[in-house]
Amino acid sequence: MPTAIVTGASSGLGLAIARSLAKHDYAIVANSRSISLDHPSIATIDAQRIAAVPGDIGSPEIAKRVLDEAIAQFGTVDLLVNNAGIFIPKPFDDYTVEDFDVLLRTNVHGFFHLTQHVLRHMAERGRGHVVNITTSLADNPLRAVPSVLPILTKGGLNAATRALSLEYAPLGIRVNAVSPGIIRTPMHSEADHEFLATLHPNGRMGDPEDIAQAVLYLEDAPFVTGEILHVDGGAHNGRW
Ligand SMILES: NC(=O)c1ccc[n+]([C@@H]2O[C@H](COP(=O)([O-])OP(=O)(O)OC[C@H]3O[C@@H](n4cnc5c(N)ncnc54)[C@H](OP(=O)(O)O)[C@@H]3O)[C@@H](O)[C@H]2O)c1
Repeated sequence: MPTAIVTGASSGLGLAIARSLAKHDYAIVANSRSISLDHPSIATIDAQRIAAVPGDIGSPEIAKRVLDEAIAQFGTVDLLVNNAGIFIPKPFDDYTVEDFDVLLRTNVHGFFHLTQHVLRHMAERGRGHVVNITTSLADNPLRAVPSVLPILTKGGLNAATRALSLEYAPLGIRVNAVSPGIIRTPMHSEADHEFLATLHPNGRMGDPEDIAQAVLYLEDAPFVTGEILHVDGGAHNGRW
């Protein structure tokens, strides 16, 4: 049974990814600050194939605990999905030092510590796959959604994805990203859905399952690495 670590698995995209991987016979190590085995979101996954590690993924100790729990419970890690993340859209001039710190801690530290631990483990095995969840806004910023700091973090993850894919290809490890458009998750208030749908050429928001399907595709695509897979109804292509 392959094992996947999914961060931010209590809600939205991470939850859909965890459920879909579990349906495809993966064991799941789920992280988020509030997660536990009886969390209503993951309680439906067969108890034999799920472990939960609560905590802030920006913390080096929590990152180490996530890997240790994966090895202790399931023996190996085959897939890491760096999904935990936050989005604070606002005009650049309105950002505070606190916004900057929490965005870096969650979106960048949350990627770095866990990925470094997991890549060491994967390098010893000579196999593995890392998928980073970024955002289409990094390639196609929109004046209607000012969000420079989330774009700074997620654009950095896109660049890191490409660079890591080269560094780790000789070790048999792939590194990809899924770059979502605006997806219907608790991140967005329902009151905004009608407007958010207009931000995609095909006129609708995405569903969490659209992103879960992209992760499954990348898992099943051994010749694909360093890819930024846009799942955004075509939004990254520019004006419409
Ligand atoms: N929805 C979209 O339109 C969209 C578009 C592009 C990219 N994304 C990206 O997709 C990812 C998931 O977003 P979502 O829409 O599913 O959001 P969501 O429903 O708000 O879920 C975010 C998840 O991250 C967890 N989380 C937040 N801070 C954390 C931390 N410090 N440590 C560990 N877990 C943390 C949350 O759980 P706890 O509260 O329990 O910690 C939750 O499980 C994010 O990286 C986001 O940037 C989303």
